[in-house]
Amino acid sequence: MKIDVITIFPGMFVSPFAESIMQRAREKGLLQLEVHDLRDYCHDRHRVVDDYPYGGGAGMVMRPEPALRAISALRGEDSSAQVLLPTPVGEPFSQDLAEELSRIGHLIIFCPHYEGIDERVSRHIDREVSLGDYILTGGELPAMVIIDAVVRLLPGVLGSSASLEEESFSPLLEYPHYTRPAEYEGERVPEVLLSGHHARIREWRRLQALRRTYERRPDLLERASLSEVEKELVARWRREAQ
Ligand code: ADE
Repeated sequence: MKIDVITIFPGMFVSPFAESIMQRAREKGLLQLEVHDLRDYCHDRHRVVDDYPYGGGAGMVMRPEPALRAISALRGEDSSAQVLLPTPVGEPFSQDLAEELSRIGHLIIFCPHYEGIDERVSRHIDREVSLGDYILTGGELPAMVIIDAVVRLLPGVLGSSASLEEESFSPLLEYPHYTRPAEYEGERVPEVLLSGHHARIREWRRLQALRRTYERRPDLLERASLSEVEKELVARWRREAQ
């Protein structure tokens, strides 16, 4: 997958993609990440990327010309490329969206700053994406989060596809994990995990996942596929909680 990032802070992207799984994805050629300095697309001597807002008000607005020059240059003739804009007014980012984006061959992510970008750029943007209901100082951190969530889904990036299948949001929260020692600060690892009895372990993990989801994210139960027994169990927990 090719990902082009357009930013006024290219240095921010160095270490998060020079370590661990993202670095390996790049070395294996599964991720071609290129980070571009928006100022390289300014034609004025001072390479100014922002200007005062029409109508007045606080803050600055990113100028449309350098942004559009950068987007068109990177999109080139590639009609399959999708342009993403991280912004708090975008659609909520989710695992489903990460999966959708992981099937696109070429992403271009524009990282806005200041009060945002001139609205006339918006028809050149395919998707506006929000990480959540809070305000960050710019689009760089959201872009990194989106890239990480998307790239780890690409075939060959993670060691085993089994770990992808079992993880959270597909569709229950994950069960708790334990490693050695078997006893730590007086607390023992649940006996079933030491039993070597795979069917019982699977059953215990499923029950833990269900209970956790019920307690922490009951909204996710609406779209989880549950057996009749599990539905009855959840109904009982709800009755008991009343
Ligand atoms: N830019 C600033 N805040 C943001 C958020 N919550 N999501 C995406 N982009 C942002």
